[in-house]
Amino acid sequence: MLELTDISKVFFPHTVNERRALDGVSVRLASGDFATVIGSNGAGKSTLLNVVAGRYTPEKGTVAIDDHDVTAMAEHRRAAMVSRVFQDPMAGTAPHLTIEENLAIAYQRGRSHGLGRGITRAKREFFRTELTTLELGLENRLGAKVGMLSGGQRQALSLLMATFVEPRVLLLDEHTAALDPTRSALISRLTAEAVERHRLTTLMVTHNMQQALDLGNRLLVMHEGNIVLEVDAAAKQAMTADQLLDQFRRATGGEVSDRTLLTE
Ligand SMILES: Nc1ncnc2c1ncn2[C@@H]1O[C@H](COP(=O)(O)OP(=O)(O)OP(=O)(O)O)[C@@H](O)[C@H]1O
Ligand SMILES: [Mg+2]
Repeated sequence: MLELTDISKVFFPHTVNERRALDGVSVRLASGDFATVIGSNGAGKSTLLNVVAGRYTPEKGTVAIDDHDVTAMAEHRRAAMVSRVFQDPMAGTAPHLTIEENLAIAYQRGRSHGLGRGITRAKREFFRTELTTLELGLENRLGAKVGMLSGGQRQALSLLMATFVEPRVLLLDEHTAALDPTRSALISRLTAEAVERHRLTTLMVTHNMQQALDLGNRLLVMHEGNIVLEVDAAAKQAMTADQLLDQFRRATGGEVSDRTLLTE
């Protein structure tokens, strides 16, 4: 469960550069809810995810995960509860370490009192099994340096590392945007499978209307630091990308940047 109550975040307050990135956002995701988030550039989507992750502390409002108020909890302490995958495939993994070493670090992050950092035989088998689900053959390349992988392969690995620890909340910030259409479709499918398999409470930002409709059971539209429209599962299923664009325009007063106009 993720509950945001009346969250406000202002950058550079009381200066000429003051920016109100979030303006009283409230939203509640039940356990296993998967909400896609769309909105124009600067709408506050990444800031919202950063507040959930603990990178930014809001001036106002509270963040609760599983009924536990984490508003004041430091980012590194929240890391065991909150996983994230960014747009940049280079951001989520360590290139100079092997696939296996990257997985071991992620595994450890989710279990602060776990089996230690050493890679045991059982752990290696677990990693191999998990990698098999990606269907990229990476299970046979445990010793390969991650820097040698393609962007799509790295993003698939980032996604696996973010999800196999079963975080309380999964945050995805345009995590397919840097990939070509084939790889983007693969990562979309893997995302849906991982969320389903682990029943993860998920917030996913995308600029792709079709992806926002295809994935998840809820859709949120952000504009000028707030959620201005919510589409539920049934309405989402029946909606086309053009209809969504239409609703988006109406909810945001017609302001649609070029990057938001991705209908396929
Ligand atoms: N670290 C920061 N310092 C100052 N201002 C920031 C910072 N991060 C975001 N902002 C400002 O807050 C507002 C919301 O930014 P945010 O990155 O959340 O938008 P976004 O919805 O993710 O946009 P995009 O679709 O372009 O990624 C913008 O006006 C932005 O300039
Ligand atoms: Mg952003």
